[in-house]
Amino acid sequence: MKDNSLLKVLIKEEEITNRCNELAKEIENYFNGEPITLVGILNGAVMFFTELAKHFSQNIEVEYEFMSCCSYDGRESTGVINVKKDLENDIAGKNIVIVEDIIDTGYTLKHIKEMLEKRNPKEVTICTMLDKSCKRQVDVKVDFRGFEIDDKFIVGYGLDWDQTHRNIPYIAYLE
Ligand code: IMP
Ligand code: MG
Repeated sequence: MKDNSLLKVLIKEEEITNRCNELAKEIENYFNGEPITLVGILNGAVMFFTELAKHFSQNIEVEYEFMSCCSYDGRESTGVINVKKDLENDIAGKNIVIVEDIIDTGYTLKHIKEMLEKRNPKEVTICTMLDKSCKRQVDVKVDFRGFEIDDKFIVGYGLDWDQTHRNIPYIAYLE
C-alpha cells in the first residue's frame, strides 16, 4: 500500500479546468476554425484529453484518435520508444494535435511527432498538460502548454505512481 501522506497538491482541479478552456481557445485560433484531430497518448493523457476536448466551440470539427507507447526501460525515457497501440485511421491531410500528459526528456513526443509526420498530415502540433522543460534532452517544439513545472515526481490527473493514482482529480507531487 502506497503512503498517501506523501501526496501534496501542486495544481487544483479548478485551475486545470480553467487552463483547459484557455488551451482549447488557443488551439482553435491557431487552426482558424479548420477541423482538427486530437491524438491522445494512452494512458496518461486520458483525463486531460477529455477535459480539453469539452472546451472546443461547436463551430470546430474535432476527431479523436489514440495511441499508446512506452520507453523500453520503464519510467525513465531512454530514447527507444515502443508503439503498443497505433492510430486506427489515416491522418493524411489532417491537422493533428498530439495530446500528452507530460513532457520530460522529450524523447517520447519527438518520436511520436516524427512518426506521425511521415504519414502526410497537414500539420502536427503538440499540446502537453505539463512541461518539465528543465529535464529536456532533445529539442521538441511544444505548441500548446498547460503548465510549466519544476523537476518533481507528479501523480494524479492521469499520471501514475506505478500504475495507480491516475484517478486523483488534481495534480499532485510526491514529497
Ligand atoms: P519523456 O519521453 O521523458 O518526455 O517522458 C514522458 C513520459 O514519461 C510521460 O508520458 C510519462 O508517462 C512519464 N513521466 C515523466 N515524468 C513523470 C512524472 O513526474 N510522473 C509520472 N510520469 C512521468
Ligand atoms: Mg505518458
